[in-house]
Amino acid sequence: MAKDIFSKPFDDGTLDKLKIFEDYFKEWLPVFIAPTKPIWNEIQIFDLFGGEGKDTNGVLGSPMRILSTLNKNENLILRSNVKIKVIVNEFEKQKFDLLISNLETIANKSLYDLECYNEDFVSIYERYYDGMKRTANFLFLDQNGIKQITESVFKKLIQLKQTDFLFFISSSYIKRFSEVEEFKKYLNITRQEIDNKSYYHVHKVVLEYYRTMIPNGKEYFLAPFSIKKPAGIYGLIFGTNHTLGIEKFLHVCWKHDKLTGEANFDIDNEKIDLTKPTLFEEMNKPKKKQVFENTLRLKIINKELKTDKAIYLFTLSEGFQIKDANYILRELEKENKIQINFKLTNSDIHKVQQTSTIIYK
Ligand SMILES: C[S@@+](CC[C@H](N)C(=O)[O-])C[C@H]1O[C@@H](n2cnc3c(N)ncnc32)[C@H](O)[C@@H]1O
Repeated sequence: MAKDIFSKPFDDGTLDKLKIFEDYFKEWLPVFIAPTKPIWNEIQIFDLFGGEGKDTNGVLGSPMRILSTLNKNENLILRSNVKIKVIVNEFEKQKFDLLISNLETIANKSLYDLECYNEDFVSIYERYYDGMKRTANFLFLDQNGIKQITESVFKKLIQLKQTDFLFFISSSYIKRFSEVEEFKKYLNITRQEIDNKSYYHVHKVVLEYYRTMIPNGKEYFLAPFSIKKPAGIYGLIFGTNHTLGIEKFLHVCWKHDKLTGEANFDIDNEKIDLTKPTLFEEMNKPKKKQVFENTLRLKIINKELKTDKAIYLFTLSEGFQIKDANYILRELEKENKIQINFKLTNSDIHKVQQTSTIIYK
């Protein structure tokens, strides 16, 4: 099913995946080690499909990127006194041996504990699961294919409190095989769900499938990032139960895709070139953004969204950033439709102490 990504240099899609993972990890880590009084005494970082550590050109894979990011944060780690555990796993013995020898070249064990396993992902996941309830965690689950992040794995993941995860999935593989009985054991996505969407959007269908597993009423955030490779559409799925997690992940996504914040290609096939804008402003604005802005405007005007908190949560759940909501709020104020009686914030909405209600004119 899946090709061995270590038999040749990493391709562009793999490099995009690694960069997004690494950029997010660089945003996640300081949340726990930068405060002078850290909230969590212990954090755990899991990379359970570890690979070999480097590609044939020596480009670093995910576990090496974790260690080098930690090493670069030496001062903060030492000052914080937070205990850090890195748990790395790789199933294939030959790859595992290579991984260990690569990790040993850079591991600084005075900063963190490094625990390495040569087992099946599920065994490690199960073994560490209870412990994860007592620590803050970040899991990178870079499976080949689609089989590992099953309903049961996913449902357990989203129950964990201070836990963010990022997993990789071969989404267009699902389009090809969704009717195969063997496949349905892993993911129960119907052919119809997939056929209703364009090929480019297949990863978003996969995200919606996982979204159905979130219990009604539970505040939980998921976000996709689609990755196109010659062999098909792949993607990352990010999950967190904290607004700060989704704010940070979306920040990384929009840094990588300035048009839609969700893909390493022109996912809506609009051929907008931001470096050569046309004279008509609306034509430079992706449809996705136009739809979001119109929807948010209407929801505010209709009083469906009346508070800062509700507006910001809606914005994040639509895959947009807080500043995009502020833009609409300012416009509505300029148009004399509302009065904003609270301070607009660009990030950290969990710090908003009191929910404020818009004044309608
Ligand atoms: C896409 S690669 C990982 C690449 C790595 N994250 C990186 O960026 O360098 C997936 C790896 O998972 C390993 N693998 C496949 N099935 C596994 C399983 N059930 N448990 C653990 N590892 C597995 C494969 O041998 C392969 O090395």
